[in-house]
Amino acid sequence: MKNTIHPIVVFLMFRINWKKLLPIGAIITITFALLQTKMLPYQLMTPNSSLPNTNHFDTNLKSQLTPLIGDKQPEAIKMGPVTLLNSSGQLVQPIEVVQEKVKVTQRRYQIDVIKPNISMKPSSSFSLSASERRHKRYLRDIKKLSPYEALVYAKKEIDSVSVSIDDHDPNLYSPLFKNVSIFERSYELMELILKVYIYPDGKRPIFHNPYLRGIYSSEGWFMKFMEASRQFVTKDPEKAHLFYLPYSARQLQRAIYVPNSHNIKPLSLFLRDYVNKLASKYPFWNRTRGSDHFLVACHDWGPYTLKEHEELTKNTIKALCNADTSEGIFIAGKDVSLPETTIENPRRPLRNIGGKKTSQRPILAFFAGRMHGRVRPVLLKHWANKHKNMIISGTISYKTSQIHMKSSKYCICPMGFEVNSPRIVEAVYYECVPVIIADNFVPPFNEVLNWSAFSVIVAENDILKLKEILEGIPIKRYLTMQHNVKMLQRHFYWNRSPVKFDMFHMILHSIWLSRLNQIQIPTSS
Ligand SMILES: *[C@@H]1O[C@H](CO)[C@@H](O)[C@H](O)[C@H]1NC(C)=O
Ligand SMILES: *[C@@H]1O[C@H](CO)[C@@H](O)[C@H](O)[C@H]1NC(C)=O
Ligand SMILES: *[C@@H]1O[C@H](CO)[C@@H](O)[C@H](O)[C@H]1NC(C)=O
Ligand SMILES: *[C@@H]1O[C@H](CO)[C@@H](O)[C@H](O)[C@H]1NC(C)=O
Ligand SMILES: *[C@@H]1O[C@H](CO)[C@@H](O)[C@H](O)[C@H]1NC(C)=O
Repeated sequence: MKNTIHPIVVFLMFRINWKKLLPIGAIITITFALLQTKMLPYQLMTPNSSLPNTNHFDTNLKSQLTPLIGDKQPEAIKMGPVTLLNSSGQLVQPIEVVQEKVKVTQRRYQIDVIKPNISMKPSSSFSLSASERRHKRYLRDIKKLSPYEALVYAKKEIDSVSVSIDDHDPNLYSPLFKNVSIFERSYELMELILKVYIYPDGKRPIFHNPYLRGIYSSEGWFMKFMEASRQFVTKDPEKAHLFYLPYSARQLQRAIYVPNSHNIKPLSLFLRDYVNKLASKYPFWNRTRGSDHFLVACHDWGPYTLKEHEELTKNTIKALCNADTSEGIFIAGKDVSLPETTIENPRRPLRNIGGKKTSQRPILAFFAGRMHGRVRPVLLKHWANKHKNMIISGTISYKTSQIHMKSSKYCICPMGFEVNSPRIVEAVYYECVPVIIADNFVPPFNEVLNWSAFSVIVAENDILKLKEILEGIPIKRYLTMQHNVKMLQRHFYWNRSPVKFDMFHMILHSIWLSRLNQIQIPTSS
């Protein structure tokens, strides 16, 4: 007996790695739990955030859209607790599971979903309130609209935002926005309506291969979240409002550019051929000549590699870090200025955020970096080693640079070879007011954000007056701007999975807005 037990005990204690088994066990449990949720006899509640805001539902519009969306005016409703059916007694176990699923939703999109109250007495079976039913019908009716009708509806809704309501989403700070009411409405409609079709065509490493590290990483992070999005992606191109060209400009450079050749034409030819292939394989490109298609490219060459295809250059919605209006490729208002972000560690994209208190920021202005482009040499010539409260220098270590940004009032963000700089977003992360010196640059999300509320824009010709300009800003105004910078941070975060109003959603929203701007509302007779 002892002889047989001994090896089993040894096996259990030493051979099995219990630490490894635990997570496996957990995964199996969760999988079973999720499978059970799918079989629940009722639906999870619709997230609150997609509720229509009736205040904006103009009566005129209502009558125009009546044939489209039914005659009942949708109403903003308060979600009641979920009524649980427990007559079968089967629900005792799955209740926990429901909560778990709800939690996941909350983390990903920060949506307030009301958790079921387990101790609540079941009311007369499965009763939805009248307003809930109306809301469900409203969502169903929206889904019935063709993509074009839905865009017309959204456009009308946004155009008819008239009352500036004070009860905004608590995550929105109105001084940051040109018009927060319009932004909020447009964002809600995006969540409600927008579907993107991602072309499956194109091979790795250039396509479908998000690269998440370094200064061009925003194109990769966008791609990662876009391709993973259950909310915004449709597999049915007939349902799409937008078509995504899923390539990385940086990977294109790495795969095709011949080092030191100074010739990017092969890259442009590659993209031209890709687009022509899509245009002959599918009907979608020719339908709008590419104007409901979009690309997201952070690499400096993003705009130049489009040049061999006229429709791609002119019609496609381009989210570019190199948002330079002087070159005739990036068009302000139509194209989207993509933020440039330095990601050192893709596992911890939000590392090191924050900075010193205002009273502990002795440095008036800070810049360090390479002498790229036309602005930086002028900046250094005039301001390097001139004043002890201004640190303007050539390259220093990234770490030291971070420390200085956290202790400076203003962080100078001069253009390099191209107009954008990852310093702008870094300044925001380190709670330092950005000072942008780059004529012809359209700052990120300029269509919705009011950059004068949290940054200083200095003309290249005024570099000699830099100190005078910064010292001329009253302390009260500085404090307001710095506070605004802190409130702005959430809109520039790459969260490990997307959160409402974060960078992923801001980029997508700007693309959505650009698409809506193409819609001409048919004039009613
Ligand atoms: C529903 O569940 C509650 C609490 O678990 C229980 O008291 C009640 O009898 C159940 N109702 C039915 C119809 O099974
Ligand atoms: C749950 O419902 C019961 C009965 O309606 C109520 O007494 C209790 O306060 C509720 N609990 C919560 C957390 O809302
Ligand atoms: C926002 O736009 C709406 C509609 O044009 C207008 O009524 C409102 O006053 C604007 N709000 C601000 C703060 O500009
Ligand atoms: C789209 O237009 C191009 C050139 O105008 C043509 O070669 C292509 O076959 C067209 N695609 C379709 C699907 O008809
Ligand atoms: C933008 O912010 C500036 C500075 O706070 C303010 O003067 C201006 O009125 C704002 N513009 C809009 C459109 O809100």
